[in-house]
Amino acid sequence: MKSFNGRLLKSFIWIIGVGFLTIAVISIHELVLKPPVKFQPIVQVEKSAQILDKVILAPQHVPTVQKNVTTVKITNPPIQEINVTTKKTTPLPGQHFGFLKVHKAASTTTQAIFLRYGWRRKLTFMLPPEYNSFGYPNIISINESLTQYNILPPPAGKQFDILCHHVVFGERAWDSYLPSDTLFSGTVREPFSLFKSTLNYFNPRSVARAQEKNASDPIGTFLRNPQLYDGRNVRYVFTNNRLAFEYGVEPDIIIKRDLQAFDKYLHNVLDKRFAVVILAELYDESLIMLKRKLGWELNDVLYVTKNVRSVSKADRYNMSEVHKPLHREYAIFDYLLYEFFEQRLRRQIEEAGDGFHHEVGNFINVRKYVENFCHTTPKNIMAVKVQKTDWNEEFEITRDDCDIMHKGEIQFTQMIRKEQYGTATWTGPGRKPPVIVKSKPKQAGAAKR
Ligand SMILES: *[C@@H]1O[C@H](CO)[C@@H](O)[C@H](O)[C@H]1NC(C)=O
Ligand SMILES: *[C@@H]1O[C@H](CO)[C@@H](O)[C@H](O)[C@H]1NC(C)=O
Ligand SMILES: *[C@@H]1O[C@H](CO)[C@@H](O)[C@H](O)[C@H]1NC(C)=O
Ligand SMILES: *[C@@H]1O[C@H](CO)[C@@H](O)[C@H](O)[C@H]1NC(C)=O
Ligand SMILES: *[C@@H]1O[C@H](CO)[C@@H](O)[C@H](O)[C@H]1NC(C)=O
Repeated sequence: MKSFNGRLLKSFIWIIGVGFLTIAVISIHELVLKPPVKFQPIVQVEKSAQILDKVILAPQHVPTVQKNVTTVKITNPPIQEINVTTKKTTPLPGQHFGFLKVHKAASTTTQAIFLRYGWRRKLTFMLPPEYNSFGYPNIISINESLTQYNILPPPAGKQFDILCHHVVFGERAWDSYLPSDTLFSGTVREPFSLFKSTLNYFNPRSVARAQEKNASDPIGTFLRNPQLYDGRNVRYVFTNNRLAFEYGVEPDIIIKRDLQAFDKYLHNVLDKRFAVVILAELYDESLIMLKRKLGWELNDVLYVTKNVRSVSKADRYNMSEVHKPLHREYAIFDYLLYEFFEQRLRRQIEEAGDGFHHEVGNFINVRKYVENFCHTTPKNIMAVKVQKTDWNEEFEITRDDCDIMHKGEIQFTQMIRKEQYGTATWTGPGRKPPVIVKSKPKQAGAAKR
């Protein structure tokens, strides 16, 4: 029993280690390969009189089931030359948002939308201390909800307007730090595909050990007896109903498999508090729903795909539909949560009527058009104009918008930190903060060693 616990502890440490290492690799990639883009306020720009007559549509990387959308015929708005003028970025009153960033569930793209929204509107972000026990300036917590220790107080004279950094949801905790009119949103992904992605990305020790036991079917071996392999502290395990845990389901409910308590929480808390839950599988539809429910503009929900690995790596483990019922049994809370929000979104879309699919079609076109501008248009064109449609006023996208949309999470977080708190010094994982030593009267001989 003792050595079993020892092994469990080792496996937690291992999982977290691998997670951080992966984040480290990504961060280094972002920090080293992408030089920081200097943000500048938009200024008057001179440019040549060149008009693009051809639009090359970039492929979409975010999983999207386009269904009926493909039948909608909307012509691309032409790329227009415009004279850039100073853009309005005055904050509007009453904009308070809490976004739950769930691992591996379209959350980085969605977080980028919230970061840009808050930045453009000069909202005050809730941020973790720059140097925290997780080693990253963009992670509030992986194991619990907001506490006075894992976030910084708002800058003097301000209140928090927006939360979009990684932390577990907790109704009471979020309510106590965010204004009472805050709207909550989060992402979900189909649990079996989330499981696959987690295995490929983190390669949890638990499954690796199942493989040692039975190399011919590690996934089946793990799923038939998950409690043999998974760590017992739900807070640190990425394969035991992680989606539900991040949505604030108590570890105790997961351990006791208390479906009744879960159901109550799902209906009384999550359904009531989360205005929009974004499905990775219905991504563009979800964003249009978000736009409508939160009263945003089309410009606000635009995103560009980041450069992803060109070659998709093979799955780390052989998985098939045979494993799905086993996985469903173990990750039952994740499935119930996902299915609930999938049904809710489909119902909301249905209630929205035919116009909704047209708006999604228009959004996809505009999004690709903007992405094309940001990725491939000759750089001497400084801005494009998106024409007015039934769902949006005319608006401009400038090179600065592109820079903001391309900015990596850590870079963006540090830019906000600098703006809000005047300083941002983090240079990489594992680095210690500069220690400010107050000079003390030293005793003679204090300098030995
Ligand atoms: C497409 O829309 C029609 C009616 O608008 C609906 O009956 C059908 O189920 C939809 N198809 C899909 C794949 O959602
Ligand atoms: C842009 O500005 C130039 C010079 O100020 C002017 O000649 C031109 O018509 C303007 N173009 C547009 C699209 O407003
Ligand atoms: C979560 O992690 C932090 C930092 O390691 C720790 O201080 C805190 O006690 C943990 N909370 C729980 C509930 O495990
Ligand atoms: C390994 O898994 C396969 C497939 O489920 C099963 O047929 C076999 O009996 C297992 N072997 C052991 C040693 O458990
Ligand atoms: C997956 O299964 C195929 C055929 O069943 C086998 O050839 C391959 O080596 C397996 N891959 C892994 C990673 O186990």
